[in-house]
Amino acid sequence: MRSKIVAGNWKMNKTYQESKALVKELKKSVKEIKLDNTRIIIAPPFTNLQKVSKKTKDTCIEVAAQNICALESGAFTGEISAPMIKSIHVDTVILGHSERREYFGDTDELLAKKVDTALKNDLEVIFCFGEVLEDRKSGNHFKVVEEQIKKALFHLTSEEWVNIILAYEPVWAIGTGETASPEQAQEMHAFVRELVAERYISGISENISILYGGSVKPTNAKEIFSKEDVDGGLIGGAALSANDFLAIVKAI
Ligand code: 13P
Repeated sequence: MRSKIVAGNWKMNKTYQESKALVKELKKSVKEIKLDNTRIIIAPPFTNLQKVSKKTKDTCIEVAAQNICALESGAFTGEISAPMIKSIHVDTVILGHSERREYFGDTDELLAKKVDTALKNDLEVIFCFGEVLEDRKSGNHFKVVEEQIKKALFHLTSEEWVNIILAYEPVWAIGTGETASPEQAQEMHAFVRELVAERYISGISENISILYGGSVKPTNAKEIFSKEDVDGGLIGGAALSANDFLAIVKAI
């Protein structure tokens, strides 16, 4: 049975002190929630990763990094490597986020390398994909998503897919307040699951968690999560408030 997952991507938000305060609140409230086959993951910025990882060690809250370098070490000023992430006991990394694709040159080819480096270093990958508004308007969204997934992930072996989580994040829905409808999310998730089933075997596609991301809030989470192929959410803005994030966790 595939896991339900609610993951919070803090992006470039929260100072060290603010991170500590948010984690404290999350830890307190999460105790009241009964988690049934559900994972909670938070992805703070690099500067807060080690502290948050330590603070959540004996809780049900898991921690993820927001990016890694495709290379493992060397003269790459400002970069953070997969072994560095692992060395502070963080086991998951978000790759392919549209903000990384748009502002930091994360192409499909580079992402394929980052995925390989992550898996080689025993990191689980939350792989994001999604179309921009023009693609949706012109009806190209399935084609765009298919390309993104094929180019970055279809060289993987069946065994490697055990460590992949997918996250559909239509770019037009990120931070805009305009969420995809539950039907639009379901349609894309089912399409992607079928794509994986065709390339691999249905056992893999059935077990892969596919999250939806883009303006998920306590008010719309339940409806989106009710869809058959939506296995949880990747939450941005609403993950910055303990109350909102936990309300979304409860919705699942
Ligand atoms: P918002 O929830 O703020 O739209 O962000 C979604 C996202 O990009 C999560 O990675």
